[in-house]
Amino acid sequence: MIRLVKASRSYGTPPVTALDSVSLEIGRGEFIAITGPSGSGKSTLLNLLGGLDHPSSGEVVVDGVHLERADDRELTLYRRLKLGIVFQFFNLLPSMSVVENVELPLLLRGDDARESRAKALEMLDQVGMARRSSHFPHQLSGGEMQRAAIARGLVHGPSLLLADEPTGNLDSANASQVLEVIAKIASRRTATVIMVTHSDSVAALADRRIRMKDGRVAHDTP
Ligand SMILES: Nc1ncnc2c1ncn2[C@@H]1O[C@H](COP(=O)(O)OP(=O)(O)O)[C@@H](O)[C@H]1O
Ligand SMILES: [Mg+2]
Repeated sequence: MIRLVKASRSYGTPPVTALDSVSLEIGRGEFIAITGPSGSGKSTLLNLLGGLDHPSSGEVVVDGVHLERADDRELTLYRRLKLGIVFQFFNLLPSMSVVENVELPLLLRGDDARESRAKALEMLDQVGMARRSSHFPHQLSGGEMQRAAIARGLVHGPSLLLADEPTGNLDSANASQVLEVIAKIASRRTATVIMVTHSDSVAALADRRIRMKDGRVAHDTP
């Protein structure tokens, strides 16, 4: 479902190579952990897969969509329909309640408001957040915010969930709850899950570990 062919990304002048000719194939439903030191290109790789950034050269193909050639309109559609993203800093909208945050991806693609609300509540239940649905983000712990962000990332049934250090800003109790949720989702094999993590014990939960170094794949271990 995902194919990178010699994908490179460099920034600035003189150019800094963030991603250096990476070729990869990732199958549907795989649960991948990406590890590697700071600055090794992990976020750059995720940004390319999320259509948030274009490669300087090479191909990035997800579900048959060539992201390297997609224009802004196609990338917006790709993100709305196929993709869920979870960031390190949650990125919930502070003026909206939890359930309003979670139903947003459905409303953006034009779904019926009542059905969207019902689906959002069902998704919140799956991440153990049903009782927090009418709270606002500032009333939640970090782990609760992240579980709400995961519900928002999955509510529209994406084929790909990208998570960039989703537990990087959490204490260990909250981190383990969030990981449990991600591992449960990954085990259903309905979405391909690609998670960046600094933790080897977290990476051990995945089917496959890809270790980045200097913008390249240093190890790829099933
Ligand atoms: N927008 C940018 N502008 C300039 N340099 C960048 C930008 N994004 C990333 N880089 C550089 O690319 C390299 C890889 O960054 P990144 O993918 O964020 O690494 P990681 O997520 O593994 O810590 C780093 O040297 C970083 O400084
Ligand atoms: Mg990063």
